Amino acid sequence: MAYAGLGYVDAVKDLATAVGMQVPETRAPGPEEAARKEREPDLYAVMEKAMDFYRAQLKQSPKAIQYLKQRGLTGEIAARFRIGYAPDDWQALKSVFEEYSQSPLVECGLVIENEGKRYDRFRDRVMFPIFSARGAVIGFGGRVIGDGEPKYLNSPETPLFEKGREVYGLVQARDSIRSAGRVVVVEGYMDVVALAQFGIGYAVATLGTATTPAHVSKLLKLADELVFCFDGDAAGRKAAWRALEVSLPLTLDHKPVRFLFLPEGDDPDTYVRKHGMDELEKLVRAAPTLTEFLLAELRGQVELSTAEGRARFLALAKPHIQKVAARALKLQLVKEAARLAGVTSEEAESMFEMVPPRAYGSFAPVRRSFSPPSSAEWRLLARVAICPALAAEMDLSLVDMRLPESQALNELAGWYREHGVTRTVSDAMLIERFRDSAHAELLFQAQAYGLELKESEEQARQYFQHAVCKLEIKRKNREIRSLGERLSRGLLTKEEHVEYGRMISEVKALELRLQTDGRSAH
Ligand code: UTP
Ligand code: MN
Repeated sequence: MAYAGLGYVDAVKDLATAVGMQVPETRAPGPEEAARKEREPDLYAVMEKAMDFYRAQLKQSPKAIQYLKQRGLTGEIAARFRIGYAPDDWQALKSVFEEYSQSPLVECGLVIENEGKRYDRFRDRVMFPIFSARGAVIGFGGRVIGDGEPKYLNSPETPLFEKGREVYGLVQARDSIRSAGRVVVVEGYMDVVALAQFGIGYAVATLGTATTPAHVSKLLKLADELVFCFDGDAAGRKAAWRALEVSLPLTLDHKPVRFLFLPEGDDPDTYVRKHGMDELEKLVRAAPTLTEFLLAELRGQVELSTAEGRARFLALAKPHIQKVAARALKLQLVKEAARLAGVTSEEAESMFEMVPPRAYGSFAPVRRSFSPPSSAEWRLLARVAICPALAAEMDLSLVDMRLPESQALNELAGWYREHGVTRTVSDAMLIERFRDSAHAELLFQAQAYGLELKESEEQARQYFQHAVCKLEIKRKNREIRSLGERLSRGLLTKEEHVEYGRMISEVKALELRLQTDGRSAH
């Protein structure tokens, strides 16, 4: 896990693959999933071939070489990062892919299909390949040469590439991260490359997205110290604040997180070229810690010289401090906040309603006493938990939002949709994402329950539809009852009469469907 920066499950799979073994899946894959799994190796091969093509093209393009030189890149560093060039041609990839008109290229995001026409996504751009932690090419970032919009064009999300989980430059940085014990997260491809050229090899970049929990936990596994580096402008501070919020629940007592702000107008690339590696490393080492950054930002929003300001300061600090997972760090934060607000630590603690932090481990024992709810909503939740693709089909207006399982479903489906999650996520990931949620336990139980059912994707989908059908019947019956009541009082309009009849036959049809399905859902 530490070596490749992978989660437990991925690390086991990686190891197994290396020795020719296969890790059994908890849930039998449905036909669709199995087909996709089979295609994945092809997609990796396609990406690799495209990278080789772009690299060869760079050698033949004086214009692209000139651009990189002018930006100060050496040939050595371009080779290290496998930088390439996509020629100015609508179908350049055709020269290396005989199967240009087949789907893998589209699925990889290299070719765009539009109204029956196909063309290369990347044209006349400097190409930065993005590698997975295991070293496979999973995406590209393409920079326009000179000015133009968009400055960087990135691969879309594909079966291989999930932006919120990946960082740029990890493969190249791994050894330096280990020897420095530190990882610096910057914002741009060029920053990573320039820092490496100037001797700071432990930098990686997020991929044009905000920092995610997946980023933070991945990087905290690799290094003892995590330093976020942002531009010194307003946008940089905003991005830093977002990174801070994401980091709070993931902090560890023995791994400091820092926030470095460069002087306005500079990014790591320009800074290191102007001032050199030593100066930048000095800044990195002296970067404000998470505690310092958090408290400084909050102080900036209040007047500590007034009682009202100090009260507001504590109120602002409360939700953030409550989120901190690391116990010793949390204690320090409380003390610092208390000192600034002129109260004792005990007073601050009681105001922050400090409850003992919930450790991962505390989820496990709940299982003993857990008895699953019997609602259709719970059964839906279990299926959506193990089969995220179902989230897109979920009509949340059907569920009874007063039930905790419905609220959990709402949260989970919302998250899946927002992040376009279509594949099962690990329980670790689920815990990580929802540990602060009021429904954390329920979600975790639902996933465990779902997995225990050992259904195939298709079966899960059937039971899901079964439960949806039941909920639809329930909703229709409610309406029928209220119409029926008004009918008995002679209050129905002609249209409502028709509606009433229609609903009754619809319910009959739905009930018939349930019966002919011949299944009793779990
Ligand atoms: P910046 O606009 O700060 O560019 O974007 P940069 O990294 O300094 O690049 P150079 O030095 O002008 O070449 C930072 C990062 O945001 C993402 C990219 O990942 C980029 O590296 N980005 C930016 C995009 O994805 N698309 C864009 O159009 C711009
Ligand atoms: Mn730049």
